[in-house]
Amino acid sequence: MRSWLFAPGDSAKKLAKAPSSGADVVIADLEDAVPLDAKDLARAQAAEWLADNETGPARWVRINALSTPFWRDDLTYIMQSRPAGILLPKASGPDELAILDAEISAWEQRIGIPSGHTQIMPLVSETPRAALTIPAYGTTAIDRLTGLTWGSEDLMTSVGASRKRDGSGQWTDLFRMIRAQLLLAAHATGGWAIDALYSDFRDPDGLARSAAEAAADGFTGMLAIHPAQVSVINEAFQPSAEKLAQARAIVAAFAANPGAAVLQLDGRMIETPHLKQAENLLQMAG
Ligand code: COA
Ligand code: MG
Repeated sequence: MRSWLFAPGDSAKKLAKAPSSGADVVIADLEDAVPLDAKDLARAQAAEWLADNETGPARWVRINALSTPFWRDDLTYIMQSRPAGILLPKASGPDELAILDAEISAWEQRIGIPSGHTQIMPLVSETPRAALTIPAYGTTAIDRLTGLTWGSEDLMTSVGASRKRDGSGQWTDLFRMIRAQLLLAAHATGGWAIDALYSDFRDPDGLARSAAEAAADGFTGMLAIHPAQVSVINEAFQPSAEKLAQARAIVAAFAANPGAAVLQLDGRMIETPHLKQAENLLQMAG
């Protein structure tokens, strides 16, 4: 699940186009990309779009925040069409996940979807208070929580910052802290760590840099807002031939030395964690 492409729920055209973008996941948005007077249209279109799920990417929906009067109606429209997952925006913390989890469980029971089928991923950093709870996601016991993701735009506004990145293009401290905490918490749950979107969709070089950093830092995927971003992201999260060859060599070295916990490969020390990482990489690459 490398690339997660948003498409506004009120745009039938974008909803129709997004699944052929090559994205691993498409998220129909019912929240900020949809104006108030188009919420019902977006819900109806998203429901229809979800039902067409025989092939292609996983189909998710971003519902409205639990602090709004909209989210229950969002679920009423879409749950019958069996979304693969629900992206929860402006999550205030793990406690809120429990509320959504219970509501989804009730829906699954009501309409005969296997219990736990519907996954959840929260956007964890959209207010200062919410951002302070990020480490607590790491110990949350909600089975359908399959990943964490974050965004910088809303938080930048809430703290009154006028920049997210410094002069050299690196995230400023606030965002680095959030990003690092999210990475830890997501891996603590055993779920996906999905990096924030790169908003300048006409800058493929900047996106490629940002996605390569995300992959190198331990993120498993990245959000996207435009089909042109998908192949760049997929490429960045695809292990290179060189990385795969190295992983195979590590696995082979340990296989040739049963019982060894530490070895050398081309003059570099390799230990059990390297073996585990190599095995994970090969498994991920299929
Ligand atoms: N999903 C599917 N198709 C998309 C798309 C998306 N996210 N973004 C653009 N497209 C389509 C356009 O409809 C257009 O199709 P066409 O060639 O058949 O006319 C084509 O890709 C090229 O689009 P472009 O002209 O470059 O961009 P735009 O001005 O139409 O749209 C945005 C720019 C930012 C409005 C658009 O990318 C978008 O809606 N992104 C998602 C926004 C969103 O959901 N945000 C919520 C999460 S932050
Ligand atoms: Mg937002």
